[in-house]
Amino acid sequence: MTIAEKAGQLSLMSAAWGGGNAAALNPPSGSDFPQQIEDAVAGRLTGVFNGNGARMALAMQTAVMERSRLKIPLLFAADVIHGHRTVFPMPVAEAATFEPAIAEATARIAAFEAAGAGIDWTFAPMVDVSRDQRWGRAAEGAGEDVLLNRLFAAARVRGFQGNDLASPDTMMACPKHLVAYGAAEAGLDYNSVDLSERTLREVYLPPFEAAYAAGAMSTMASFNEIAGIPSTANDWLLTTVLREEFGFAGIVVSDYTSDEELVAHGFAADRREAAKLALLAGVDLSMQSNLYTSYLPDLVASGEVPMAVVDRSVRRILTVKAMLGLFEDPFRRISVAREAQRSRLPRNLAVAREAARKSIVLLENRDNLLPLAKTGRIALIGPFAGSKADCNGPQCVYADNADAVDLATGVRAAIGERASVTVTPGTGIEDALPGGIDAAVAAANAADVVVLAIGEGTAMAGEAQSRTDIRIPEPQQALAEAVAATGTPIVVVLKNGRAMALHGAVRDAQAILVTWFLGSETGHAIADILFGDHAPSGRLPVSFPYESGQQPYYYDRKATGRPAPVSTERPSYRTYWRTVPNAALWPFGHGLTYGKVAYSAPSIPATMGWNGSVEVAATVTNTGRRSCEELVQLYIRDRAASVTQPVRKLKAFRKVWLAPGAREIVRFTLRRDDLLFRGRTLEATVEPGDFDVWIAPSAQDEGAYGVFRLEPA
Ligand code: BGC
Repeated sequence: MTIAEKAGQLSLMSAAWGGGNAAALNPPSGSDFPQQIEDAVAGRLTGVFNGNGARMALAMQTAVMERSRLKIPLLFAADVIHGHRTVFPMPVAEAATFEPAIAEATARIAAFEAAGAGIDWTFAPMVDVSRDQRWGRAAEGAGEDVLLNRLFAAARVRGFQGNDLASPDTMMACPKHLVAYGAAEAGLDYNSVDLSERTLREVYLPPFEAAYAAGAMSTMASFNEIAGIPSTANDWLLTTVLREEFGFAGIVVSDYTSDEELVAHGFAADRREAAKLALLAGVDLSMQSNLYTSYLPDLVASGEVPMAVVDRSVRRILTVKAMLGLFEDPFRRISVAREAQRSRLPRNLAVAREAARKSIVLLENRDNLLPLAKTGRIALIGPFAGSKADCNGPQCVYADNADAVDLATGVRAAIGERASVTVTPGTGIEDALPGGIDAAVAAANAADVVVLAIGEGTAMAGEAQSRTDIRIPEPQQALAEAVAATGTPIVVVLKNGRAMALHGAVRDAQAILVTWFLGSETGHAIADILFGDHAPSGRLPVSFPYESGQQPYYYDRKATGRPAPVSTERPSYRTYWRTVPNAALWPFGHGLTYGKVAYSAPSIPATMGWNGSVEVAATVTNTGRRSCEELVQLYIRDRAASVTQPVRKLKAFRKVWLAPGAREIVRFTLRRDDLLFRGRTLEATVEPGDFDVWIAPSAQDEGAYGVFRLEPA
């Protein structure tokens, strides 16, 4: 291979033929499609991303296999984040299921559909821990908790990649964005990060490690800088940690022009230096900037970049292409017929409905307003009541909202002719609608119950959609206040890509369902829960704070030297805001059911031997009148350690199904390894002493509590 051909193998460009959302997300690369085919034939490209399906891939791959000198197959990549044509809940919503198996199943289907359309590689999962809800990309991850992120990262990788990367039903996963992209200062997307190596290793790196351990063969460097070093040029991160410590053998791709952005960061003097720094640090593939094709020939000729480094990256990309089966059959995933045959199959839409239903979190249910009867007069009010436009949510490249089931359609399908339904938008998402509130008030006055569908639109969540204020947009808040003043009971059906700070009539509504962006089956899934055909079982993967100004807020924070009780009183000189406690309004792990579950009889042995384990247990009893699925959570706290430990850490969880009156003893085993933390020099450490244990329904609930002492060796 010539150096130009090698550089070409390290260059990925957005497809010149991209339609719809693909084109909006990633504008085509400048050249038109015939020109891009010539680039591919000339060996200037390793592949393209976010293209237009099998027909496009067929045209490009055919040209390369027939006319190029080396006949190295192209690689087709795409952002398949939460489904291809069948759209599943946003990743943060799926995390609310606390069932990694669901994420594995939906990723499997996404791969089946996308691979059918010629896609070899997805830029997913996003495994960035999201502790600041101002950050719009919180929607794309698994929330604030490390354990949950690890489990969902691994599950999604297994789902996308299956057992065989070369199968025409699977695609390569790409855990992103390495690393701490979600720790951007002020929750501002792309912003700088400054955090300790300890936090990197304890919070932000573990989900990546889990994804690599599950077999991910690619990973994406993040846009951000950490403590002055942009991730795209961080050799410690991309080589020492990733390759040497984690043993990662796949490819590292830059984020969209993140190599070129080393200049804007003030890290590289010019594009040429940026190319050199990125490659030497360990970025194998350059996305969208053409930096490697422009400068590698010269950088190698001048001796600034050793040919061996270029060869190593080329070998990695060719190895991955081989693993994907492309040398055996460059067309193995490209089939126009299969693309259509696999799209939106009924059995896959059924999985989307189940995943969506299980993603819904019941925050409040005063006076057991829910489930609703399928009779009487129901007023659906709000900008999302009858609109399909925001069902799928952000980062949805290949699906059309027109195919999704909106709330009104779902409600009507559930109740048939038994109840009357009116639909009144009342307001736009961020702008008022003339006469909207009057119409909504009239509808509320004429109804027995209001279902108020409000929250964030697609455009308010996802990449670059940072918010300073995570409240309901003002016109919708005004709508909620006016509707509440009618006195008709309200069920808030919240649409959201992040945790929100709910206020006034929204916070005080009789019932609140968190429904995120649920995808293709939105309306059916919400109706399943509204009318009690299915029991709500989702739990918050992110803490809902009292106020926006608490951000970043997450449950496994440190105590400080002056902890304050969670109470409405304002203790003096304590860790407390003037207006709100240092707590969540609805904490991580919270979610109600249609039953009523009591935690009792904690069984926590007094001691754990150094080489032993303890079985901890509690009794959960459904004292309510309806069956329910309870998520029983196990948290611990290391009371005193040579490095301070969080006030709680999630260690395990289990769902149990409880009929009315039923009780079950839920048992967990804790071993010494479950008590590990990173010591003073970051080594894995366990120290004898006291450990608090909570078996509880949320991170802020006492549940069944006890203490054990880890005995010295
Ligand atoms: C995003 C990535 C995405 C890439 C390609 C970037 O702006 O940060 O997550 O995979 O674009 O679409």
